[in-house]
Amino acid sequence: MPEALGFDIYGTLVDPLEMDEHLREMVGEGADRFSALWREKQIEYTWRRGLMREYADFGVCTRQALDFAALSFGLEISDDGREGLVEEYQNLRPFPDVLCGLERLRSEGHTMVAFSNGVERTARVLLERAGVLDHLEAVVSVDDLGTFKPDPEVYRYLARRLDRPVGETWLVSSNGWDVIGAKSAGLRAAWVRRNPATVFDPWGIEADLVVENLEQLVGKL
Ligand code: LAC
Repeated sequence: MPEALGFDIYGTLVDPLEMDEHLREMVGEGADRFSALWREKQIEYTWRRGLMREYADFGVCTRQALDFAALSFGLEISDDGREGLVEEYQNLRPFPDVLCGLERLRSEGHTMVAFSNGVERTARVLLERAGVLDHLEAVVSVDDLGTFKPDPEVYRYLARRLDRPVGETWLVSSNGWDVIGAKSAGLRAAWVRRNPATVFDPWGIEADLVVENLEQLVGKL
């Protein structure tokens, strides 16, 4: 029976931490720490804005998190420098298993969309450049609702967009907190444990499937 799948983008289809390559010139040795802090703060800002009901889109969260990381590292970042980095954020490469994994899953007949905190327009550019967009039927963005993952409303919205009952809709994500959010809202979820050292939050809410990459989903859904 073909399933309906929503794929998280950042960390699942493409790797935001590869931004360290573009940060090396500005930050030097600490580029990977800078990149990790940028990503951490970006996500923290979405959670805080969701709770505070002070929505500003993912692009704003990304820019403000970049400014925070620069301030933390004692670096001055010009407007041009910031925009250059944000532009590079739309050039992230897919993980090596992604194109082949999506192709094989599609040939199993599943309905597949991207499902992201990212604004649809930005996500489309990113996925197009990464060669992923053609493998998906749509890009579903939380921006339509003016809130962020893991608000249960966004997971229910994914199910509506896929025209499936919540309990028959899958989230596929490398972000454990995203998986827990989806499960808590009643969806099914696959956790893509890209890094074996990553620890899953011990909340007593488990993923339905745990895989190391998208190819491992083939034949399992
Ligand atoms: C996304 C972030 C959470 O793509 O990775 O929604």
